Amino acid sequence: MKKVMLVFGTRPEAIKMCPLVNELKTHNTMKTLVCVTGQHRQMLDQILDAFNVRPDYDLAIMKDCQTLFDITNSILEQIKTVLENEKPDVVLVHGDTSTTFVTALACFYLQIPVGHVEAGLRTYNIWSPFPEEFNRQAVSIISHFNFAPTEYSKNNLLREGRKPESIYVTGNTVIDALKTTVRNDYNHPCIEWAKNSRLIMITAHRRENLGKSMENMFRAIRHVMDEHPDVKAIYPIHMNPVVRSTADKILGGDERIKIIEPLDVLDFHNFLSRSYLILTDSGGIQEEASALGKPVLVMRDTTERPEGVDAGTLRLVGTKEEVIYNNFKKLLDDPEEYAKMSNAINPYGDGFASKKIADVLEECINKEVTV
Ligand code: UD1
Ligand code: UDP
Repeated sequence: MKKVMLVFGTRPEAIKMCPLVNELKTHNTMKTLVCVTGQHRQMLDQILDAFNVRPDYDLAIMKDCQTLFDITNSILEQIKTVLENEKPDVVLVHGDTSTTFVTALACFYLQIPVGHVEAGLRTYNIWSPFPEEFNRQAVSIISHFNFAPTEYSKNNLLREGRKPESIYVTGNTVIDALKTTVRNDYNHPCIEWAKNSRLIMITAHRRENLGKSMENMFRAIRHVMDEHPDVKAIYPIHMNPVVRSTADKILGGDERIKIIEPLDVLDFHNFLSRSYLILTDSGGIQEEASALGKPVLVMRDTTERPEGVDAGTLRLVGTKEEVIYNNFKKLLDDPEEYAKMSNAINPYGDGFASKKIADVLEECINKEVTV
């Protein structure tokens, strides 16, 4: 029987690959294997548990404050043995993390075909997001199957000369996940705490924002929060110690800003769906918020998700303190501005992306797949 191996290692990859793992497992014409690199630990395990996915291999590479060199070296060294032992017919990777790039590189060295889930997102600025823009472009050079979430991402790949027959527009598997998590009757002590206030959700973690830019973001947020007593914020904080110390220093000790541990994905999606607006530098949250119709101030200079900007739901506000302050304040003070940004748009498909990907693989895998 042909073998498909999914390799992923961080929280966002897990959220978007677990629905695909579970879908592939219902296709008994292929054997499905899961290898996690463990680039993240607690934040990955939380998601594996939520989707009930048990990896066949766990490279357990994470260490505190790991550098890009640490991640790259550890994965490249360890994944070789797994790939050589299992000899998968196709390896699926997701998006743009170091796990994604290094796994694709290892497959290239071993001449194993790669399928790229969430292919074709671009900012065309190699430094932003860093190192993700490089990672995704590099994977596109290697990949045999390109599963693009939207026509927009498909067109990026076509413009770059990728073969049209290698590209499948499937929607984004995050919508598959979102369909199963958001519930009308959901409640949580934090939601109760924020009941009579406008709830702001905050996340931040991007490598290029660590340091000065992140300090700017947090100072702007603190300033606006101080001026708006009817607003409460919840910040499920990333486990990166650098993020934690900056957040503690600037946002800590405010009774209307709750800094909490990372939430399970079910909780997080329901928190988003009950929020008033979102401040983030995350990638995946831009898609989820667009689908839920929640205004997002994207604290970055670029986005690879222009669909949400076109619809008005996302606004790029960069990382300068004054610009974030002005935009955040305006959204709170100006109901018209807020209404303009509260459009639910969902360019990311009908929630059947995993099924579409599995069907393509099922159809193609028994034909000869060569690199
Ligand atoms: C990684 C990805 C980024 C993705 C993000 C999602 C790369 C280079 N970066 O960035 O594309 O957007 O994940 O969150 O691939 N840590 C823990 N426990 C965890 C997770 C992280 O303690 O479960 C801490 C560790 O100290 C770790 C640090 O966070 O060294 C940074 O993790 P790392 O994966 O290197 O970078 P992220 O910023 O999480
Ligand atoms: N998320 C989560 N719990 C949290 C914060 C985020 O489950 O406390 C989910 C969120 O729904 C989204 C993903 O994590 O699907 C985004 O991850 P992150 O921002 O770490 O990475 P990025 O998307 O920027 O790569």
